[in-house]
Amino acid sequence: MRIVHVLGTRPNFVKMAPLIAALRARMPECEQVIVHTGQHYDRMMSQIFFEELGVPEPDHMLEVGSGSHAQQTARVMERLEPLLDDPRPDLVVVPGDVNSTLAAALTAVKMGIPVAHLESGLRSFDRTMPEEINRILTDAVSDQLYVHSEEALNNLSIEGISPEKVHMVGNTMIDSLVALEDRFRALEACSNHDLRPGGYLLVTLHRPALVDGPLLFEAVAALDRIAAELPVIFPVHPRTRARLATEVAVGSGLHLVDPIGYLEFLSLEADAGAVLTDSGGIQEETTYLGVPCFTLRDNTERPVTVEQGTNVLLGLDPARIDQIPKMLADRPDRDATPPPLWDGKASQRIADHIADLG
Ligand code: UD1
Ligand code: UDP
Repeated sequence: MRIVHVLGTRPNFVKMAPLIAALRARMPECEQVIVHTGQHYDRMMSQIFFEELGVPEPDHMLEVGSGSHAQQTARVMERLEPLLDDPRPDLVVVPGDVNSTLAAALTAVKMGIPVAHLESGLRSFDRTMPEEINRILTDAVSDQLYVHSEEALNNLSIEGISPEKVHMVGNTMIDSLVALEDRFRALEACSNHDLRPGGYLLVTLHRPALVDGPLLFEAVAALDRIAAELPVIFPVHPRTRARLATEVAVGSGLHLVDPIGYLEFLSLEADAGAVLTDSGGIQEETTYLGVPCFTLRDNTERPVTVEQGTNVLLGLDPARIDQIPKMLADRPDRDATPPPLWDGKASQRIADHIADLG
């Protein structure tokens, strides 16, 4: 079998690394080809994940870089098509919901090549999010849909996707976390930032609805206020950094830092008193780790993290950040249990399934 994996962004690398390793172990004779679209390209958004997760060097770099949605999607399609032409793969695997995901899925399906989608079936029901469009369209053209939670099964069924294509396998992003747990637990990265375990808020914000407009400055001002009581460390995504280019004045309790490598970030996440985010993956990781998570969005495509995990939807309302210290203090002690099949073995289940296809 020849399998082409198409990856482009920080969360893609985390989701795909364990599957590439599991396929290598399960099907050593299978040829795996890794295509990096180049949607993310800074070292700390890309290369460091390959190193820390032990992903082989990509076989092809498409170097599409940044651009509008149409530009980014079109560049991936144009540059990927000839790579899929000769020799043709038996399967193209795409993860998540970014522009590279949709572009690769569309390219493959139009060439008659089967597509497998990892993290299928998530829906925010908010079509103003580019990711929602990417998810719906990718699922519509995929042949194998790998799912990590019950609500995803339901979403796909409502959209009329045949149940034979849909497989509940678990969460490969959690596989990566579990695989590195001994290493990141030993790091105690918070001490490098003069923070103590349990005594700080870890923040990430990068959704356009929040960071591309004035809400970002309201959020930073609110974080600055609560930082006097609860120190804040905020590794700033490049999209967000571009908006904060004119340095905002902040007090000494708010640490704005560059994006952080995966191991160090997981260490900061595991030891945080709480996390404030609009990231999809971080809602899942905090649920697994049992760390309180506050999501600064009106909706989530991952309701299981609210129902079974540690996630609280704050709404797209920076004023609510001021309430975080009190919400933390009032929070009932609750043992969050990870959702079923978030057990570190999802990739093995997918590899077994793909082996049966071959
Ligand atoms: C993308 C995904 C989003 C995902 C996020 C993960 C889409 C539509 N969005 O958002 O779903 O949650 O990745 O982090 O696919 N930039 C750099 N260096 C980089 C990468 C980006 O400076 O290595 C800057 C550029 O100014 C660029 C901006 O960040 O224009 C946005 O990058 P882009 O990949 O378009 O979207 P993200 O916001 O990263
Ligand atoms: N992450 C990281 N360093 C950071 C911020 C995030 O390693 O500074 C990791 C995080 O642990 C998770 C993934 O990046 O595995 C989430 O990526 P992101 O929030 O960019 O994307 P999303 O999940 O929202 O699509």
